[in-house]
Amino acid sequence: MTVTYASYLKIPELLSLQQPESGRDGTAEHDETLFIVIHQVYDLWFKQQIHECSLLQRCLEAGDDPMAVATLRRMLTILKVMVSQLDVLETMTPLGFHSFRARLQSSSGFQSAQFRVFETVLGNRRESARTQFPDGSSEQAAVAAAWSRPTLWQSFLRRIARSGFPVPASEMDGVRQAPCEPSTALQDILLDVYRNRPPERVICELIVDFDEGLQEWRYRHMKMVERTIGFKQGTGGSPGVPYLRSTISTSLFPDLWAIRTRF
Ligand code: HEM
Repeated sequence: MTVTYASYLKIPELLSLQQPESGRDGTAEHDETLFIVIHQVYDLWFKQQIHECSLLQRCLEAGDDPMAVATLRRMLTILKVMVSQLDVLETMTPLGFHSFRARLQSSSGFQSAQFRVFETVLGNRRESARTQFPDGSSEQAAVAAAWSRPTLWQSFLRRIARSGFPVPASEMDGVRQAPCEPSTALQDILLDVYRNRPPERVICELIVDFDEGLQEWRYRHMKMVERTIGFKQGTGGSPGVPYLRSTISTSLFPDLWAIRTRF
């Protein structure tokens, strides 16, 4: 069979996946289509970011710096698109969202398994990501699989260990069970990297760009939520904006931030 645009990209299947809840009883709300499309696009970007992060980790561990840098740049470019996409959602007024919000019942971006996988791989390991999905679900299995992998930070530390820096094995090896805690010993090594190893310094700065970009996404999402639902509770059951505000300054790589004060 000839491969065509539609058959290769599964366009008919793709276009059949936007099914507004408000359309079921003939009261289709115009903005619900946008709401569905944008969430689906985000979940596709999460998928791509997880895919790229696997490559990045392999490159770091193999010492392939040019490919690691190229992959990090791609991830950053995707992240910028992800942040700017919130502009599209902000064209939806509070009334537009209110017209179908009740149809969402308890569903929320909070339940995006891919977002949790992405956070887990990046190193933001919180027990709640493992327990929030039902036992035996595919979402729980996906988070567990990500949890068993090294974090991006561990892969980076293995990379600088290859250059001869005395990274403690306890920082690089084993299955991380919690977010990174600041380590003065690692900061001493990073100060040395910054002062004496320009190639590794480039990678460090790109990783900081990524951390900052993810915080930017969290901030923009929180403000978008505030202008859309104010201080209402989230459909996922959290207090809404106050919860999102508490996550904004989540820093994935605290040592890379801490060294700024020490130069
Ligand atoms: C009108 C649009 C949106 C509103 C009102 C909204 C609201 C919220 C609220 C209130 C929460 C906190 C959890 C809860 O109680 O539900 C949340 C979490 C979240 N939302 Fe949204 N959201 C919107 C759009 C999006 C979009 C487009 C995405 C992209 C995937 C997204 C991804 C997330 C994620 C990943 C979380 C979890 C954040 C975390 O736990 O750190 N949201 N959202």
